[in-house]
Amino acid sequence: MYHSPGTASKILKNTKNQIMKNIVLLCLLSICMTSHGQKFDKLAQTPPMGWNSWNKFNCDIHEQIIRETADALVSTGMKDAGYEYIVIDDCWQIDRDSLGFIVADPVKFPSGIKALADYIHAKGLKFGLYTCAGRKTCQNRPGSRGYEFQDALTYARWGVDFLKVDWCNSEGQNAVESYTLLRDALHQAGRPMVFNLCEWGLNKPWEWAAKVGHMWRTTGDIRENWDIPDAKEGKCWAGGIIINLDMQQGLEVFAGPGHWNDPDMLQVGNGDLTESENRAHFSLWCMLAAPLFSGNDIRQMPESVNRILLNREVIAIDQDSLGKQGFKIKDYGQIELFYKPLKNGETAICVFNRYNYPVKIELSWQNLSVTAWKNNQKLDLPVTIDRKEFKIENRYQIRDLWGKEVIGTTEIPTIAEIGGHDVLMLKLYKSIDQ
Ligand code: GLA
Repeated sequence: MYHSPGTASKILKNTKNQIMKNIVLLCLLSICMTSHGQKFDKLAQTPPMGWNSWNKFNCDIHEQIIRETADALVSTGMKDAGYEYIVIDDCWQIDRDSLGFIVADPVKFPSGIKALADYIHAKGLKFGLYTCAGRKTCQNRPGSRGYEFQDALTYARWGVDFLKVDWCNSEGQNAVESYTLLRDALHQAGRPMVFNLCEWGLNKPWEWAAKVGHMWRTTGDIRENWDIPDAKEGKCWAGGIIINLDMQQGLEVFAGPGHWNDPDMLQVGNGDLTESENRAHFSLWCMLAAPLFSGNDIRQMPESVNRILLNREVIAIDQDSLGKQGFKIKDYGQIELFYKPLKNGETAICVFNRYNYPVKIELSWQNLSVTAWKNNQKLDLPVTIDRKEFKIENRYQIRDLWGKEVIGTTEIPTIAEIGGHDVLMLKLYKSIDQ
């Protein structure tokens, strides 16, 4: 076909215009995609703290328990100590309506979820809810698969501040894709929510979830037991405190402000855990910079449990703004030494006695080594982990965070007695060299 020079230049102009239009369109599209393709940053700069209904109540929840728990969070002083989210776990939902909107169980939650969220907000607390990335939740309630954007909008309208997303009934789904889709749905809904991935560590979320959410489970479900050795096999579906703790080794490099490893919620005050075990569990979770969700009935807490959950000096180790997850630098089998760098060059040290009897220990600050005795008999403690690169460079004051007193300086070894299944939790602060 023949075109005159004038027509040819017109065609050229039109083509240029079209290319420009395409470029603008592409830019807009990529702006759109990046603005949806992100999590809410600035949230969870320290590990989130609160209460979750699952560990104590399982499916037996109703709105009265949630309201009373919100009241108790305030009256016990837990709110002032930093516990801010009240999270309803599985079993609040029962169906979808004809338009696909999620429906709360009208018998257990007659006032509706929005009213509950309002009640919780009025107390200066934040509100969390649970769903599942699969078709059904772990208790066979409707999951969010296929309803991601609709559910995200509903949660935003209800005033949800925190969303836990489980992984049951997700056969055939890809975890990265499913959770990323939910992240985008939440972002598009526009209400900032802490996004808690709960896929039990099956797909190594520590490697990819920092871009997706604010915390991710690293283990199967924590049980209200100290140790369940059989659970070490398989997927760890009934892990006690010890198993969940052991599974954190090496994950410390993946945690930081806005993205935390979650060794699961606290069992402090549940089952037949002893006071020492509760204290050790809580201390170690704080050393790990773990999210702190109490899972007990805080409406009727024994004094000993109250003292543990409310030890502000120990909580401060968890919440330290440097945001470093602590880790084991010495492993003597049944005696272990955990180390957590804190802001201003301070350090938290936790000596953990896994024996079920008390030991006397001597902690040498020069090489961070531990010697231990049972009834004046020196224990044979072969060391299996010895990370010599971690040292105490300056001379510090030492504060015992459970004894709540200064117990000396790092100039001389520390000698202490540690009960069975218990810890010595220390903070090295204020260098005496300066
Ligand atoms: C899974 C989760 C638990 C809890 C239950 C609820 O097992 O890992 O934390 O949310 O589902 O059904």
